[in-house]
Formats: sequence, C-alpha cells, structure tokens
Amino acid sequence: MTHKIILDTDPGIDDAMAIFFAFQSPDIDVLGLTTVYGNVPVNMSAQNALTLCEIAGKDIPVTKGVGMPWVGPESSYAHFVHGEHGFGHIKPEPPKRELDPRSSAQFIVDMARQYPGEITLVAIGPLGNLALALRLEPELPKLVKGVSIMGGAAFVRGNVTPVAEANIWNDAYAAEIVFAADWDLTMFGLDVTNNVPFKPEFVDLLAQNNPELGGFVKESAQFYMDFYSQNRDDRVCFFHDAFPIAHLRHPELFELTEGHVRVGTGELDRGQTVVAPKGTTPSPLWNNANTIKVATGVNHSQLEQLFIDTYAG
Ligand code: RIB
Ligand code: CA
Repeated sequence: MTHKIILDTDPGIDDAMAIFFAFQSPDIDVLGLTTVYGNVPVNMSAQNALTLCEIAGKDIPVTKGVGMPWVGPESSYAHFVHGEHGFGHIKPEPPKRELDPRSSAQFIVDMARQYPGEITLVAIGPLGNLALALRLEPELPKLVKGVSIMGGAAFVRGNVTPVAEANIWNDAYAAEIVFAADWDLTMFGLDVTNNVPFKPEFVDLLAQNNPELGGFVKESAQFYMDFYSQNRDDRVCFFHDAFPIAHLRHPELFELTEGHVRVGTGELDRGQTVVAPKGTTPSPLWNNANTIKVATGVNHSQLEQLFIDTYAG
C-alpha cells in the first residue's frame, strides 16, 4: 500500500537522511515538505528543503512555516549539532526553485481537504505548523489519516534538558496543542531513537549504495558524528527522524505502548512529555488527557537493513 505523507521538517542532517529515505521508499508518496524552525532558522530550513529536493530530483511543493515558538523568545537553534548551514560542513548552493507561496500550515490544511482521510502528517521538527494548522482548520483531525512525530522522551532522559527532547522543548505549547487534538498520534521519541547508534560504516554503505543521496548523508554526517561522539569511546550518530517513516512502512519492527500524555510548559519541565500508561495514575490531569501511542522498542538490525536496502533501491 502507498502512504501519502506530508513531511514537516527542520533540515537538519538527520532530517536530510529521513527525507531521502522517504523519497527512496517506493511505498511512500511525499506530497510536500513543510518547513519549520528548529535545528536552524525557518528561512534556512526552507532553503535546505528546496536543496534536498533538487539533489533528489523531486519537484514537489516546499513551504515555509512558523519561525517562532507558540510562546516565548526565538530559539537559539542547534548549529552546534547540525553546522552553520544545517548540513555539517557542507555549504549548499542556493536552490534554483522557489517556495510554494502558502504557509506550511495552510498547505497542510489544503492537502488534508484535497485528500480527506488519506494523509499521514509526519512531523520531524518542532510542532508549531501542526498546531497552527489545527487553529486554521479545527476539523483537521477528521481530515487526516494520522500523525507520526519524531519527538519526546516518554520513559527516558531528554537531550536538551534532563527531561526534554529538542523538538518538544523548542515549542512546548505547540506540542501540548498537538498532543491534545483528537487524532491518531504515534510518538517516536528518544525511547527508541537514542537506542540505535549508527556507526561510520553505516553511512559508508549508504554512500556506496547511492553516491548522490547516500554520499550527501555521509558528508553531512561527519560534523554530526563529531558532536555525538564527544565523551564516547566509539564514533556514532543518531538518525532520529527516519524512525516514523520506517514505522509507516514496517510497523512490525516496532513495539508501541499506549498512554495519556501531557507536556510540561514550566521552567523546569519545559518540553517534558509525561506519558501515563492506562491505569497507572489516579490523576485526572492525565486520565482526562488524550491517549497517544509511544514507540518503546525497535528491531535495531532490521531497521538498519531497511535503511541500507532502501537507499540502494
Ligand atoms: O531530538 C532530535 C530531533 O531534534 C531531530 O528531529 C533533530 O533533527 C532535531 O530536530
Ligand atoms: Ca528534525
């Protein structure tokens, strides 16, 4: 079966790997890339998304979305993880193509109305565009097939604070809005993505199997591996953003847990995704909250092989 998706993204090195993985997947139809701030400012996210489409020869709509969090000051961005231009040491040529003139939120709403019940929103950056789309079209949850996000840390430590993962921390109020909407949402957080370290041999294989796309991932990942390998004996990185796309194609590789979710919006708990599996708390603050699915396990070797085989395809 072919999955229609919209990829909401802040490219970003692991975003790039995920986007190329989606482009290479024969059973994934990417209707467009909607961009958001996060790893880099939204203008850079948008230009980088156009660049990735050009490298892959994909002429699909790319839109620019929110550049600020729902509440609070401008992000400090993550150039220390993704490099000055968002692709490690690579300074991309300016893209030739123009952006679609619509905002990311408007594009999401337009596509959901055009393909009612068929689209999965795959969000791999902060959630401001999805929150805004919900305000634009309150019926959006009925118009989409589902939502898969890379974000959060349900039962493990965060990566920006001890309790918060970057995408949720970057826009905690937007995340609270998105998690509270009445749609079928699955969260792929650090519970699984931090459990699968990728070694240099992995990106070498991507590059051997696909010099264009895999070669770009390998080159951009060098800076990313430098960051992730500090204070480690081995050289690794984490391709967080490809997990929700892999699940769409092969759900059998993942274990999911259901639970009521709330998002912290205070100073200490900003961006904390607190998930209470059903029957584990008397608190109405959770029992009255929406239920989401959380990925808590993944078959590492089969996931890695899926990425390698798809890039080779
Ligand atoms: O915490 C990892 C997430 O934050 C990934 O989506 C990465 O691209 C960054 O956006
Ligand atoms: Ca991302």
